[in-house]
Amino acid sequence: MSYQEIIEQIAKEVQSTPIQGKVADYIPELSKVQPEKFGVHFCMISGEEQTYGDSLEPFSIQSISKVLSLTMAFKLMGERLWKRVGVEPSGTPFNSLIQLEYERGIPRNPLINSGAMVICDILMDYYDNPLMAFIDFVRDLSGDTSVNYNEKVAKSEMEHGFRNAALIHLMKSFGNINHPVEKVLEFYFYQCALEMNCKQLATTFLLYAGHGKHPVTKNEIISVSNIKRINAIMQTCGFYDESGDYTFRVGLPGKSGVGGGIAAVYPGSFSVAVWSPCLNSKGNSVRGINFLEDFTTRAKASIF
Ligand code: DON
Repeated sequence: MSYQEIIEQIAKEVQSTPIQGKVADYIPELSKVQPEKFGVHFCMISGEEQTYGDSLEPFSIQSISKVLSLTMAFKLMGERLWKRVGVEPSGTPFNSLIQLEYERGIPRNPLINSGAMVICDILMDYYDNPLMAFIDFVRDLSGDTSVNYNEKVAKSEMEHGFRNAALIHLMKSFGNINHPVEKVLEFYFYQCALEMNCKQLATTFLLYAGHGKHPVTKNEIISVSNIKRINAIMQTCGFYDESGDYTFRVGLPGKSGVGGGIAAVYPGSFSVAVWSPCLNSKGNSVRGINFLEDFTTRAKASIF
């Protein structure tokens, strides 16, 4: 069976089961999406591509953006980065405050909200306009200059992001945030409000499948050693307190977002992006994980 046949078969099976979970509504603007949307895009390093369903429809990438901002910060700061943020799975929800208090403002990893806000604070040291630098970075990787943020989503989160405000104030009190908290929060919300479709996302994530060199643009973005570490962080922390279960079921480094997207990679081989907005209680796409679980099994394409 070809990849296209496997993808189509699994996508149809996954879509034929009753919808489970629900669309994120703690950011009110996100709740407007249609729950039954479903898209997949698959890119091989060799250039082969497969696509299915709503793969060209933009959605809010939310936490998937944290992998991209981490890549920028790691490239700029190298190993010094790990003084500000750890590399351990948190075992707690993405917006939990508990660990941060007893670990004195050092987030467990860069993929939970607190860690991603530290990354934003770091990028603000390097750029006058960090948001534009971030968007340009993603535009280059996706090969698409139309990639942009959704202003309404960013504003909606700004009006309701009380937990993130609590997290950043707590970190500021421990001295782990250098810039004004309002400015860091604003950058973080706009970064999360980036919209991409599955094709753009899978193309972007070829960087993580390609050992740090983007196979389409041919640009060497980050070293082999550093991309290995980012993939390891995705594997162990990309799904928060569901990272173990995701690894057990899917077996590929990946990252989810509350917009319902998941990007996953098989280093040396392919990247895949799947989008289905209904989330489980951990904030991860139910059908997205179901699809990837079946895909890696039937295509014999897990790293384990
Ligand atoms: O900060 C938040 O809560 C959102 N902007 C991002 C959370 C998210 O995507 C978690 N992912 N599953």
